[in-house]
Amino acid sequence: MTTPRDHLPELSTEEKASLTSGRDFWTLKPIDRVGVPSIMVTDGPHGLRKQAAESDHLGLSESVPATCFPPASGLGSSFDPELAERVGVALGVESAIEDVAVILGPGINIKRSPLCGRNFEYVSEDPIVSGVIGAGLVRGIQSQGVGSSLKHFAANNQEFERMTASSDVDPRPLREIYLRGFERVVKDAQPWTVMCSYNKINGVYASQDPWLLTQVLRDEWGFDGLVVSDWGAVNDRVAALVAGLDLEMPGSDGAPDAAVATAAASDPAVAAALDASAGRVLDLVGRALDRPAVAGPLDVDAHHALAREAAGRSIVLLKNDAVDGAPLLPLADDTTIALLGEFARTPRFQGGGSSHINPTRVDSALDALRAVAGDRVAFAPGFAFDPAAEGQDALRDEAVALAASRDVAVVFLGLTDAEESEGFDRDHIDLAAHQLALLDAVVAANPRTVVVLSNGSVVALPFADRVPAIVEAWLLGQAGGSATVDVLTGAVNPSGRLAETIPHRIEDTPAFGNFPGSNGHVRYGEGILVGYRWYDARDMSVAYPFGHGLSYTAFAYGEISAAVTASGDIEVTVPVTNTGSRDGREVVQVYVAPVASVVERAPRELKAFASVEIAAGATADVVLTVRREDLAYWDIRVDRFVVEGGSYRVEVGASSRDLRGTVTIDVAGDAVLVPLTPESTLTQVFAHPVAGPMVAGAFAAMQEQFGGDGDGIMSGEAMAKMMGSFPIGRLPAFGWGLDRAGVDQLIAAANAPRA
Ligand code: BGC
Repeated sequence: MTTPRDHLPELSTEEKASLTSGRDFWTLKPIDRVGVPSIMVTDGPHGLRKQAAESDHLGLSESVPATCFPPASGLGSSFDPELAERVGVALGVESAIEDVAVILGPGINIKRSPLCGRNFEYVSEDPIVSGVIGAGLVRGIQSQGVGSSLKHFAANNQEFERMTASSDVDPRPLREIYLRGFERVVKDAQPWTVMCSYNKINGVYASQDPWLLTQVLRDEWGFDGLVVSDWGAVNDRVAALVAGLDLEMPGSDGAPDAAVATAAASDPAVAAALDASAGRVLDLVGRALDRPAVAGPLDVDAHHALAREAAGRSIVLLKNDAVDGAPLLPLADDTTIALLGEFARTPRFQGGGSSHINPTRVDSALDALRAVAGDRVAFAPGFAFDPAAEGQDALRDEAVALAASRDVAVVFLGLTDAEESEGFDRDHIDLAAHQLALLDAVVAANPRTVVVLSNGSVVALPFADRVPAIVEAWLLGQAGGSATVDVLTGAVNPSGRLAETIPHRIEDTPAFGNFPGSNGHVRYGEGILVGYRWYDARDMSVAYPFGHGLSYTAFAYGEISAAVTASGDIEVTVPVTNTGSRDGREVVQVYVAPVASVVERAPRELKAFASVEIAAGATADVVLTVRREDLAYWDIRVDRFVVEGGSYRVEVGASSRDLRGTVTIDVAGDAVLVPLTPESTLTQVFAHPVAGPMVAGAFAAMQEQFGGDGDGIMSGEAMAKMMGSFPIGRLPAFGWGLDRAGVDQLIAAANAPRA
């Protein structure tokens, strides 16, 4: 059977060029002459946004109804790749029914600052969580014969000037933080496509960066799929093609195809790149054709049920203090409830922009709570979303009166679409003043108050000490309202964990002062200390730490053991017991750091986690694998990841700041031979296996001569330290037995190829 790729040799240069840009907003060009059909790619990421046939050119009009699953900020909080995979399967099924070849997601950019307007579409501030959850989604989607598009590659961590700004990132944070999640997904789940981002990285557009799109993505990581541009991300089409950008989206006026064809006619390098890219487009078409046709209709109820389950698993119970001797949540069966806040009636369950789904239905918390609690619930909106709207005082007074008359007040607060969306960033992390004023008045009237938050990224919680219970309900997709009620009533025992730290103030956050940049550049000045790495390194107080989340039961950790496996990974085992009376889920987290390092390290980094269901009273032996490659840092001397040898601290716990046990374990290091130069220091020379022994005598003589006995101009110890950073190229001037020829010989011997 012929595949689309088989037609490549028959195509003219113009036909090949035509394959490398879209036909319109969502489809690729067919080549009817040889029977290559057009395929459709469309958003993404947490539901299908397929516009009806008569869609407008800009892709803004209403799309066909689809299930809106929890956006990534929610799903990431599940810390559960299997759940993500099941959601991915559902996304694949919906795409297949609609004959969509590729769904544009997941998005796994790092949440560098809580201010990024698009954080709701991203998983975490941590690359391992982003990569593991992202890989789960990709596996699920692609199991249905539908492609995914891993986006936005790379270092696209803000919306301000997103189409032109340069993310100026040093090699270590770039590799260890911003690329690591992408690397994980590419290697573990082989996405059919990767979408390059709009921004520049260190001055070069991602869309035309051969280092990013070819050297890193293909040569180093082994990516064999297709690179598509973000919509409108291409600046110079020919440069982009040569750099490794296969497909420009959306379709344009034909000028880029003509430019490519013209350049290919005269430049063999462009012609070769065109062959490669046209071939990859044909491969993508071939993969899409391999999918058996899927008959609808969509099982709307089953997918809604999955959306509800996923939303319930995404909710993070931040606080649940005892009031009158018992935790305020879950709400008892006979409690009377004042349900307050417009979000309870009009849920905000997704973010604005290209991910905006036309949901098959929407559950509100108000309807869901009424369904289970009937007359025990009374509702008052408490505020209008628009702070400038008339009548806020009256709405507040009505809600406060209601709160005073019921056993418990449950207040829904949050961010509106106007405050948080694709396309712009926030400039603070505060909830609207009129919402906070409502809460203050409600708490004064009834201290038995639960706060439920609807937000795509973290908000400051100035009230955290004044309310007994806080539920972080993110944006949870179309079933978020009923899922929230499941948690409030205890039908679901919460198990979500913070995939992003909640700081006290924006001024505390790592990128503060370096976000969103100016004059076309944003400097990633915090380096590797992103998210919890920053707060831990500075020993700062936070509102709620990374990894935090409560349950209605309790878990006890037994003795931790760790061993290095034959493949060099670290296998960690810990028995975890559910000591409460309810079944529940614990997210066991493993943080690792070298005890000593030659480079800056975060005090701890999450390297493995598992979400484990444990019945009341039962014990689970949880086994987690820390991959050896995840211990590595990016060594700028040799431009590769290097595992340092030595002792590593392995901490196991229920959050980054609730560590239940620590073991240390020895890890063998990677051999790194850094070429010696005249600038190599004596410390480096001594550490060198060949050069070290050669200079040992000279160094001893030197120490002898200068203050070895402590009587000289400085102590022997201080002298040894000073000499340690002395470059060998400068030694001849001091006449310590090493002349210029000797230095040259030393360097040549050290750098000589070895068997
Ligand atoms: C967004 C992408 C999206 C694309 C198509 C772009 O503006 O950045 O995430 O997939 O539009 O809608």
